[in-house]
Amino acid sequence: MNVSNVVDNEAFQTTKSQNAKRIQHTMHLTKEAILKLDRIKRINIINSVSGIKPANLIGTKSKSGNNNLAIFSSVVHLGSTPGYFGFIMRPTGEVRRDTYDNIMETGVFTINHIHASFAEQGHYTSAKFDADVSEFETCGLSPEFKLDFEAPFVKESTLKMALKHVETVPIKATNTIMVIGEIQHLFFPDSSMNEDGMIDLEALDDIGISGLNTYYQLKKMASYPFARATELPNFDS
Ligand SMILES: Cc1cc2nc3c(=O)[nH]c(=O)nc-3n(C[C@H](O)[C@H](O)[C@H](O)COP(=O)(O)O)c2cc1C
Repeated sequence: MNVSNVVDNEAFQTTKSQNAKRIQHTMHLTKEAILKLDRIKRINIINSVSGIKPANLIGTKSKSGNNNLAIFSSVVHLGSTPGYFGFIMRPTGEVRRDTYDNIMETGVFTINHIHASFAEQGHYTSAKFDADVSEFETCGLSPEFKLDFEAPFVKESTLKMALKHVETVPIKATNTIMVIGEIQHLFFPDSSMNEDGMIDLEALDDIGISGLNTYYQLKKMASYPFARATELPNFDS
């Protein structure tokens, strides 16, 4: 293992006042400075600064029967009754987007968490393979079909869900779209959920993403009660 890649968690366990003193913002980038950066550097910086993003593989199938799998870091929860999720799709114009085309053809897709054991395979699903090539095969993951749902799940994923497409929202500012789906089925090991329904992602050994190529394992730090203005802890201590 490359020692320089090992993170010493102890070093980061500072109090908030120690942290505020320790941090020096030696980097300040204005909008203009960001625009002048080398393209790749700009993309890497901007893709990193939102913080950790969820690591998911979206499974679809074309009408002609080709399975497709691609990594997406932009999955976001939109509603709980019923469950709604959206993800951001880059411009669909000039480049072929199999995930989008398949969802438009079949109306369904799956979202599958990436487990630490197949981070690298998950990453390589982002490569541009021909439409008739299945990323399941090229990246060594197994398609799984459940309950007559038309889109493939990732067999190796610990948490997976089946969604029905309900809406596509154009985002004019970035020429992207948000594809929105409603949960039809949800699968995960019940041992990972507590009596309140909280799912322990560390126990699942699922991972997070920074930027477009860096993957993090997750460490549960704390759970807090529902925040009420009348029940604040003493933050001075
Ligand atoms: C870490 C990572 C995250 C990504 N997240 C997204 C995303 O949120 N939206 C998107 O449109 N493409 C994203 N991509 C790019 C897609 O995975 C890539 O364009 C893929 O080829 C799409 O597959 P498809 O043509 O089969 O739909 C991401 C790539 C990587 C490596």
